[in-house]
Amino acid sequence: MSWYSWWTGSLGPRGSKFQTNGESSGEKPEKQQGVALVIGVTGIVGNCLAEILPLSDTPGGPWKVYGVARRPKPDWSPDSPVEYVQCDVLDREHTLEKISPLKDVTHLFWVVWVNRETEEQNCEDNGRMLSNVLDALLPNAENLQHICLQTGGKHYLGPFDAVARNRDFQPHEPPFHEELPRLPAPNFYYTLEDIVFEAAKKKQGLTWSIHRPTVIFGFSPWSLMNIVGSLCVYAAICKHEGLPFKYPGNIITWEQFMDVSDAELIAEQEIWAATDLYAKNQAFNCANGDVFKWKRLWKIIAEKFDLELLSYEGEGFSLAEVMKDKGPVWDAIVGENKLHPTKIEEVGNWWFADLVLNPPWGTVLSMNKSKEYGFFGFRNTETSMGQWIDKVRSSNIVP
Ligand SMILES: NC(=O)c1ccc[n+]([C@@H]2O[C@H](COP(=O)([O-])OP(=O)(O)OC[C@H]3O[C@@H](n4cnc5c(N)ncnc54)[C@H](OP(=O)(O)O)[C@@H]3O)[C@@H](O)[C@H]2O)c1
Repeated sequence: MSWYSWWTGSLGPRGSKFQTNGESSGEKPEKQQGVALVIGVTGIVGNCLAEILPLSDTPGGPWKVYGVARRPKPDWSPDSPVEYVQCDVLDREHTLEKISPLKDVTHLFWVVWVNRETEEQNCEDNGRMLSNVLDALLPNAENLQHICLQTGGKHYLGPFDAVARNRDFQPHEPPFHEELPRLPAPNFYYTLEDIVFEAAKKKQGLTWSIHRPTVIFGFSPWSLMNIVGSLCVYAAICKHEGLPFKYPGNIITWEQFMDVSDAELIAEQEIWAATDLYAKNQAFNCANGDVFKWKRLWKIIAEKFDLELLSYEGEGFSLAEVMKDKGPVWDAIVGENKLHPTKIEEVGNWWFADLVLNPPWGTVLSMNKSKEYGFFGFRNTETSMGQWIDKVRSSNIVP
């Protein structure tokens, strides 16, 4: 099957074109085409890129994959063919030492970030990380062809700290489309874009694509922002302590239509843009393509964890506040159930859950441009939620 029919042929059950059954990443590939460097390979989208790229029917592949993160290779994917490179890309010397030798890299996938107190610091450190990697790659990876840069919906809303400061500018009005102008506030997404544009000027033929998801549904116990994982931990704690499984969000998220982005779908869009001639040098939103209400997702979570579904009390509350002393409870749950060892600070991103479930605005991404350029992937959000909960469970992160 050609790469084009791969994306336009009949759909798999999740709206995905690739089939994982029988296409084990352990099979010896007949031909190797792209060589991917995934920075942030253990993150929420990095994990999906690591799974999809080496498959034999992935466009441009099967790919050889180098995967970078700071911690040692995780044990949740022991058979992964990814060549794991442990490296802190904020450390310039370390990055030059570890990344410069990867001379066969053809495509860079940027699915990493660090979170600082202010957006100015975010611009500084996230920009430095990307510059370090490009300074290692550009003089050495002669066949470097494309950079996939993942940013997100804050491109249209402004950064987290401006939100916390009650905003001295107006965010754009949803539905957001890709051609909206930048907001007049510091934003590390803009810094990263500018670094990519400069790199493309320096190296002839080097192309780029920018991918803007909204809240991501996926799997990674090492993600800084994992809403599904965090809510699974909250549900497991409620179950363990016999607490009512109350919805912590506001009436907006309970009652109104929202959209989210499945991590696997984002990986597919990034691979599509990396390999499709017509997707070059463009920014694309990436959302599931449907809308949902949190009241329906809450029912799915309650059923999965065998918790009573309560009626909504009409007011949100802070999970960060309610969960702040639950570290020992989580340690007990992990111990009693022989779970993969994690700390509550890793798997419960409460500040993020509070933000996602209590936003003062609606955020809907337009998917028109992505479809007009030829990417037709989608996800059913309710199915996506159920499947990622199953993945968190089968990976032994929650009971
Ligand atoms: N998650 C969401 O819901 C969401 C929604 C919209 C937009 N986005 C955007 O998507 C982009 C990527 O975020 P993500 O959520 O996909 O990432 P993530 O799940 O938080 O994963 C980050 C990855 O980067 C690695 N990493 C962090 N610092 C590193 C460093 N200094 N050197 C090397 N590796 C490092 C982490 O592993 P180690 O910690 O072991 O290094 C991990 O593998 C960000 O711009 C984010 O704002 C995310």
